[in-house]
Amino acid sequence: MRVLSGVQPTGDLHLGNYFGAIRNWVRLQEEHECFYCVVDLHAMTMPYAAETLRINSSGMILDLLACGVDPERSLLFQQSQVPEHAELAWILNCVTPFGDLERMTQFKEKRDQIREKDVEVYVSAGLFTYLVLQAADIMIYRAQGVPVGKDQQQHLELAREIARRFNRVFGELFPEPEPMWSEAPKIMSLAEPNSKMSKSLGARHYISIYEDPDALRRKVMSAVTDSGSGGISPGVENLLTLLSAAGQADVAAEMTAAHRKGLLRYSDLKSRVVDALIEVTNTFRERRAALESQRAAIMDRAWDHALKARKEARVTLERARELTGLPLHVEVS
Ligand code: TRP
Repeated sequence: MRVLSGVQPTGDLHLGNYFGAIRNWVRLQEEHECFYCVVDLHAMTMPYAAETLRINSSGMILDLLACGVDPERSLLFQQSQVPEHAELAWILNCVTPFGDLERMTQFKEKRDQIREKDVEVYVSAGLFTYLVLQAADIMIYRAQGVPVGKDQQQHLELAREIARRFNRVFGELFPEPEPMWSEAPKIMSLAEPNSKMSKSLGARHYISIYEDPDALRRKVMSAVTDSGSGGISPGVENLLTLLSAAGQADVAAEMTAAHRKGLLRYSDLKSRVVDALIEVTNTFRERRAALESQRAAIMDRAWDHALKARKEARVTLERARELTGLPLHVEVS
């Protein structure tokens, strides 16, 4: 099966990204033809600085390699280097009803975030059509499987609808992409365990995949564990989830049982979590240091991968152009 997924270049990945999504990308490489892209065009839909985008995009390629994406098996590249994504997005924009995009939860949330700020910022048309570009990312390779978290459910449904409408109006071209829900757990913020782990909440809330051991210890030891209402609190549950995700499901199960009997000491749970996560982050830091010394070669390789992806993308795009009444491209060279 052909698989595609994308991640925004947000700066260092955190353990929520890794356990909740990227680890699944790594697993899928064993059996599928995978296209993984750093979606720099998506990162332009909210206010941003050019230099940050530049640094974070190449940084994210290194992060994904550090996480175990294998460039021998998968294509790993930067979205904007394959301009066919943006061109197909235009065609798809024209088969997507305005009203469908207006109803998208992510759009409404981000729009409201922008409105709340009183800086000179605006809700861009790019933000409005964000999900059409996401559909194009998938459809330009005619990918059938899309590993994503549950938060992307509405987006995948929209992509399927866009594919169906295109096929109905212009002729059969696109498979309807299927979400591949990661079995991966949803990791919550340490300081506010009712919200998803996210960098935008602030440093206390997340653990970077490269987190320094002392900072990691501090963050876990001060993680919120109570919330008063009896049973397993969201904070304790989150720590247990992290422990299992880090390969200690057996310890997590014992601790859950102890908790039921009222015998679990949160400080014990926390120190087990610290040890398990330090082991995980040590691996990432070591790999990243090794990768850093080959940065130039890695970026060349991402360039090659973009070229390979582009060859695939071209075939789909030419077909889409033909079906929609557009002529062939003229070539520059
Ligand atoms: N919108 C996704 C996110 O924010 C990222 C993304 C862009 C994506 N294009 C994609 C995910 C295509 C899956 C497939 O997480």
